[in-house]
Amino acid sequence: MAFEFTAENQTEFERILSRYPQKRAALLPTLYLVQKQHGYVCKDAIGFIAEKLGIEPVQVYAVITFYTMFNLKPVGRFHLQLCNNISCMLLGSEKLLAHLRSRLGIGLKETTPDGLFTLSTVECLGSCGTAPVLQINCDPYRENLGIEELDRLLDELRASAGDAPAAQE
Ligand code: FES
Repeated sequence: MAFEFTAENQTEFERILSRYPQKRAALLPTLYLVQKQHGYVCKDAIGFIAEKLGIEPVQVYAVITFYTMFNLKPVGRFHLQLCNNISCMLLGSEKLLAHLRSRLGIGLKETTPDGLFTLSTVECLGSCGTAPVLQINCDPYRENLGIEELDRLLDELRASAGDAPAAQE
């Protein structure tokens, strides 16, 4: 089915457009709006955005693939975005990543079969002083993370989704 904005988001899109002298300059907020509505930026939405902003689909695609905050396929309810840049790496992000892979049984850009967790690494989140840092969806960062705290966090997230905490291995 072709992508369309909801009536509410169409109004929001027009408000966004009014802030820019050229339609093409509204690409990033338009992508955010599409992702907020649909959960990710599907192929139909790429064509839709290109037409609305008077640019080529490949230009939309190039921006989506440059920024890690945009998703080209559905993500889980909790999108775990672990910073793997230098400060976080020096302070243990690789151990955290290995633990997440093992505990969740998924690789990067994969989603657990229950649809709860998607795992990604991202570039510097701008909070190097509190490394290692994890962002979940668009929520405030989880900082100074260790393995124990990460396990607690995963249990809390599962519980908040109505599932029993996963058994520890
Ligand atoms: S390196 Fe991770 S927040 Fe900067």
